[in-house]
Amino acid sequence: MRKFKVTFLPSRKEREIIEGETVLEAARESGVEVESLCGGLRNCGKCKVQLLDGTLSPFTDDESKFIPDCEKANGYRLACVAQILSDVQIFVPEISRIEKQGLRKAVAERTIGLNPAILPYYVELPPASLNDLTADVDRLKNGLWEKYHLHGLDIDYPTLLKLSHALREKDWKVTASIWMEKEILDVRPGRSDHFYGLAIDIGTTTIAGYLCDLQNGELIATQSMMNPQVVYGEDVMSRITYTATHADGLEKLHRSIINGLNQLIKAIVEGCSLFSKDILDLTVVGNTAMHHLFLKIDPQYLGVSPFTPTVHQSINIKARDLGLKVHPSANVYLLPIEAGFVGADNVGVLIAQEPYNQDQMVLIIDVGTNGELVLGNRNRLLSSSCATGPALEGAHIKFGMRATNGAIEKVRIDPETLKVDFKVVGETQWKSESKSVKAKGICGSGILDAVAELYWNGIIEKSGRLKKERSMPRLKTSDEGAEFVIAEKDETTHGKEITLTQQDIRNIQLAKAALYAGARLMMKRCGVQKLDRVMLAGSFGTHIDAERAMRIGMFPECDLNNVIAVGNAAGEGAMIALLNREKRGKAEEIARKVEYLELTLEKNFQEEFIEAIPFPNLKGFL
Ligand code: FES
Repeated sequence: MRKFKVTFLPSRKEREIIEGETVLEAARESGVEVESLCGGLRNCGKCKVQLLDGTLSPFTDDESKFIPDCEKANGYRLACVAQILSDVQIFVPEISRIEKQGLRKAVAERTIGLNPAILPYYVELPPASLNDLTADVDRLKNGLWEKYHLHGLDIDYPTLLKLSHALREKDWKVTASIWMEKEILDVRPGRSDHFYGLAIDIGTTTIAGYLCDLQNGELIATQSMMNPQVVYGEDVMSRITYTATHADGLEKLHRSIINGLNQLIKAIVEGCSLFSKDILDLTVVGNTAMHHLFLKIDPQYLGVSPFTPTVHQSINIKARDLGLKVHPSANVYLLPIEAGFVGADNVGVLIAQEPYNQDQMVLIIDVGTNGELVLGNRNRLLSSSCATGPALEGAHIKFGMRATNGAIEKVRIDPETLKVDFKVVGETQWKSESKSVKAKGICGSGILDAVAELYWNGIIEKSGRLKKERSMPRLKTSDEGAEFVIAEKDETTHGKEITLTQQDIRNIQLAKAALYAGARLMMKRCGVQKLDRVMLAGSFGTHIDAERAMRIGMFPECDLNNVIAVGNAAGEGAMIALLNREKRGKAEEIARKVEYLELTLEKNFQEEFIEAIPFPNLKGFL
């Protein structure tokens, strides 16, 4: 088998590869991050690269769907299709580079009752002597029984290894960190009060960590980063497919998240002048696919009906078994899962927002690639998941991108002049305020804003059709049909217009209709006419304009004063479970109590869905 050298520009990263590898595979191995929203399934067209030198496999029909003749003539190819057949030089254009996620996963500030799973116990033990030959571990256990009435304790193996030294170092005075009054995880010489825990939210796009002092419950640092699995596919289904179609796919995706978390842990502890071994307890939330990949459980049955997970219950596992670089005896607690597509992240949202303690009828919407919905109050809780598709995250949108620097996140259209103004992630000023503001693409909140503005200003009809007959320079017709120019050529980083096409608008309609129909069916099931409160969770929920979202019919009508963004409620739920172990029991109880509504089996789903496609919907409230 022949080997070739691939050089990526502008990063100048080089690697030797085996003949026939795709450019995308070579990029992943070289640490060059190329957009691959579909995970290499050849249907997103986001992985365009340019061949500068050398030979690739012949151009295919799959590529011609995304690469017009003018780009083909300049050597443009899809990285997931083109195979390397000689030494090559590949240029990754700006539009195909993955940028660092610009949005942090903020959690709401609140006071959480402190009752951690790990507690420190200080003991002063009688020294060993010829008259007292008790073994060290029994001496410690006896001391813990006498002072704290703890019995039946186990000691974790790495702690056993250092026990004898720890006991003698400070004259038989030690602090034992004990998990759930069951297992000794650490023994430190003398009195030691400082021990830490880390709550982790593994989102499909972003992972976030919240470092807490378990002695006083204080949140001392947060850190977020892009989920490194994005190079294997933007959405959950592409990653599940990757594991099913590559022999080493599961291993690669598992390693990728563990390596990412180890980087995050290193960054967060170094920022606080701590050591990773100071972390003794971890809690984790994530959707079911992220949960399975984190544990290296094969996720393929999550992708096929009836979408059952391998495990529902919460899990406790040693961090070392997963390869996490924290204290060798640290425990990892994963919150339980509700159903195939309603994961531990949703359980996190529930324990953070506690709809089960409220009289008001609350709808919680957590929008990602899947829309996860919870409706209810203290009497009843329903959850469901609807396939919003990735449009609200910027995928399957012509100029869609994640909310990274340069992504248009807000759009305004002047009703008088129909002039367009926009704001991009990473800039504080609007385009109208600074000529240096340039856009690279448009992210979910920008797309939603743009659609709402176009609808309000009569540029799209209630049906979603762009009114081609309106005479406006920004309204154009291309090979793909009608499109509206959001950013002119000189307002973008790549010198191409950023447009919203008729198909993009259609994708947004399908996404919002899925959410609306899901919420309506849940309301019907609960006999609810009107919502008292709507909570928008997740980073998308935090950044969308609630009024615009409601007025294009993304969720049923509610008093706007009662529509609130609750930040990263899933991450907050992980933090609550970290700081208060009783909430772990509550999570288990609620996960089993929530009724899961499989929307696709509801006989009225199709009808509700179709009625919800127009703006705001067929029974519109405007
Ligand atoms: S088309 Fe290549 S990654 Fe999607």
